[in-house]
Amino acid sequence: MSEFMVVAEVAQLPVGATLAVAYLDQEVGLFNVRGTIYAIGNVCTHAYAQLHEGYVDDDDCTVDCPLHGARFSLQTGNYYTLPAVRKVACYIVQIDGTQILIAPAS
Ligand code: FES
Repeated sequence: MSEFMVVAEVAQLPVGATLAVAYLDQEVGLFNVRGTIYAIGNVCTHAYAQLHEGYVDDDDCTVDCPLHGARFSLQTGNYYTLPAVRKVACYIVQIDGTQILIAPAS
């Protein structure tokens, strides 16, 4: 069963910001896109790069890996472009007062 855990304060993630946090032993990237917060695995599945440092496309709700440019959905973690060939994890986000909580989507 998925357990929600507090991973950050809402104030740490203003609109347009990204943040690397931890969920148990997993590195997770938080992305505030136009006021909606998304959470996906933060380590690219191609090689080691942190997705929260990548380019976020607000219109497509995607992030491009900063190292080689693989594109991932912030909504599902699916990859759209090579060189990644595996998705990253996806998390459900809840806001409770001033806190951001996440749990694995599956
Ligand atoms: S490390 Fe992300 S595309 Fe290569």
